[in-house]
Amino acid sequence: MFQPLFKENRLHKTDLIAPVFVDETIAARKPILSMPGQSRIPPGTVGEVAETLWDCGLSAMVLFGIPAHKDARGSGAFAQDGVIQKAVQTIKRAVPDMAVITDVCACEYTDHGHCGIIGDTPCGPDLLNDPSLDLMAKIAVSHAESGADMVAPSCMLDGMVAAIRNTLDGAGYEALPIMSYSTKYASALYGPFREAADSGYAFGDRSTYQLDPANAREGVRESVLDAEEGADVLMVKPAGFYLDIITSVASIGLPVAAFQVSGEYAMIKAAGGNGWLDERQVVMESLTGIKRAGADIIITYFAEDVAGWLDEEQ
Ligand code: PBG
Ligand code: ZN
Repeated sequence: MFQPLFKENRLHKTDLIAPVFVDETIAARKPILSMPGQSRIPPGTVGEVAETLWDCGLSAMVLFGIPAHKDARGSGAFAQDGVIQKAVQTIKRAVPDMAVITDVCACEYTDHGHCGIIGDTPCGPDLLNDPSLDLMAKIAVSHAESGADMVAPSCMLDGMVAAIRNTLDGAGYEALPIMSYSTKYASALYGPFREAADSGYAFGDRSTYQLDPANAREGVRESVLDAEEGADVLMVKPAGFYLDIITSVASIGLPVAAFQVSGEYAMIKAAGGNGWLDERQVVMESLTGIKRAGADIIITYFAEDVAGWLDEEQ
């Protein structure tokens, strides 16, 4: 009977951010096969999707875009009439109070699938850090101009937060917060996302700019650097395998978001769908564990389900 009184951590709907994939190339919802229950949505329905999330009590979403055209420089990512730019405007018209967060990266927009500009290096073709910084800054400003409430750069470039902060400030967006994917591991758990966001890469991998899963100190240092560059929210990604990192990053002192990624979702869905695990209980346990580790905010594909379950618990 006293158990609720002593409960140290609780999930709230206001902790959750729902990811949404907006696909410019489709006219109807398209299920993501490796993420049962998730779909890409056509641009025409983003307003309704936002209304549905809002009606469930969710107040934040993060947008990923799939453009009609890709090129080597990812120019669709900063186009004024790009898929994300239009989606942000539509959502802010439909649900003005929804916190609209945009993923700032180029991998969905480049024909090679990497997160920025590719060029020749002494070690072969690879992501070029500094030319890619200008691209990220341009993308962030275009999202700000469309009305985004927060930008979330996810490319793990060196100097990414400082470049975006400077450019946003110069464009008059001093107050626009940056949620940096500051501690992002080169994880196999992003597999289903490649299908979801059509961002598989043509060559190489992302281990030259994402972190080695074996490294804890390096992971924390990456978040410290982003905090120094002006990040407003830090992020650890993936979440469930990296709880120790969440705890360490929380001690930096900024709000911490954890991204329960596509592969974490897929694993739970697969076991749940087969009757091998109780999906609802495992989802709540996984998210409670992520909060207990120290996350303030959780990005999760289960957001809408959890909102419903929290209502039932009351
Ligand atoms: C884009 C991006 C990725 C994810 C979020 N933003 C893919 C990647 O970094 O390879 C992964 C999210 C997920 O797996 O759910 N850079
Ligand atoms: Zn990317």
